[in-house]
Amino acid sequence: MEKRRWLVFVVFTWMFVFSAGRELKIKHKDHGPIYNHTLATILVRYASTVYLSDLTELFTWTCSRCDGLIKDFEMIELVVDIQHCLQAFVGVAQDPNAIIIAFRGTQEHSIQNWVEDLFWKQLDLDYPGMPDAMVHHGFFNAYHNTTIRPGILNAIARAKEFYGDIRIIVTGHSMGGAMASFCALDLRVNQKERNVQVMTFGQPRIGNAAFASYFSELVPNTIRVTNEHDMVPHLPPYYTYFPQKTYHHFPREVWLYNVGVESLVYEVEKICDDSGEDPTCSRSVSGNSISDHLVYFGVELMAKTWRRCRIVMGPGVVEYSRTDLGGNFVLSRDLATPVLKLNALSEAGAKPL
Ligand SMILES: *[C@@H]1O[C@H](CO)[C@@H](O)[C@H](O)[C@H]1NC(C)=O
Ligand SMILES: *[C@@H]1O[C@H](CO)[C@@H](O)[C@H](O)[C@H]1NC(C)=O
Repeated sequence: MEKRRWLVFVVFTWMFVFSAGRELKIKHKDHGPIYNHTLATILVRYASTVYLSDLTELFTWTCSRCDGLIKDFEMIELVVDIQHCLQAFVGVAQDPNAIIIAFRGTQEHSIQNWVEDLFWKQLDLDYPGMPDAMVHHGFFNAYHNTTIRPGILNAIARAKEFYGDIRIIVTGHSMGGAMASFCALDLRVNQKERNVQVMTFGQPRIGNAAFASYFSELVPNTIRVTNEHDMVPHLPPYYTYFPQKTYHHFPREVWLYNVGVESLVYEVEKICDDSGEDPTCSRSVSGNSISDHLVYFGVELMAKTWRRCRIVMGPGVVEYSRTDLGGNFVLSRDLATPVLKLNALSEAGAKPL
């Protein structure tokens, strides 16, 4: 029965993905972001570490996923919304010299069930202050209507007080990519941040074409990395026959795919057009793979266990936590009395520690 449901779902996805029809062009200016491969391989590590449920390792940046490429990083705040099973962190890095914000993807029992649900998400919420722009309330509320947003805004304010006006990079995988997008737009529109950059991995669609237009105008420095046959970027579906009613990705996609056979396989990074829905990128293949969703650039993007919202916290970090009535909490570092090894940023505007 379960199998049959899954099959119906896959068949439907194929039908909509391959249905031909009139494409809707979104408005945009032609000054797209420049894709930086090195930056992508660094940011994907942040999108991976935020999945960790051992908060002591994560907060003190001693996890095995934390080493290597991203050693010059200091955590400022780790926000955990227990009620809605969400996790995000804010920190500062030396390379790229920026405030880094990372959002975790879903932590459901089964990624398959979560992906299946994505298929049915409706455009049911008017994005505030943007005529005709519609989004799904679930994605919107995960960022806007939980303890995540106040935690993040507070951490950014503290980071800027200490380091000056440095650039902000927002990242996340899957559902975390959807939240990263809403966060970046919020920072640009409501917090008047000028220098906001976004890179997400395997994110679903989050709004309609009008929303995608606003997004690309307001946060032009955005890259949406997709991988091979990853199913999630194909969802919720793009209905070619109903261009006014359908979900629509914002630009700019960078599609990763392999060419060659056997030992001669190499990965291509295709920089897609600025429509958001380039038919020659991930849309040229069937989005039928979950496994392509879980590994990007060879980095695992999932929790070690799929048990719902399991967290582990040692006594060493409990003193840095604040808890609200719902049991949600933030682990927050007082920047004036550092507990960890710090790396002062060298760029103008950064204050020495
Ligand atoms: C690409 O990103 C890396 C990592 O932040 C940085 O060191 C490098 O200078 C960037 N390259 C360009 C051309 O901007
Ligand atoms: C925010 O969440 C509350 C409680 O879950 C809900 O009643 C309210 O409608 C939500 N706000 C929006 C804008 O959806």
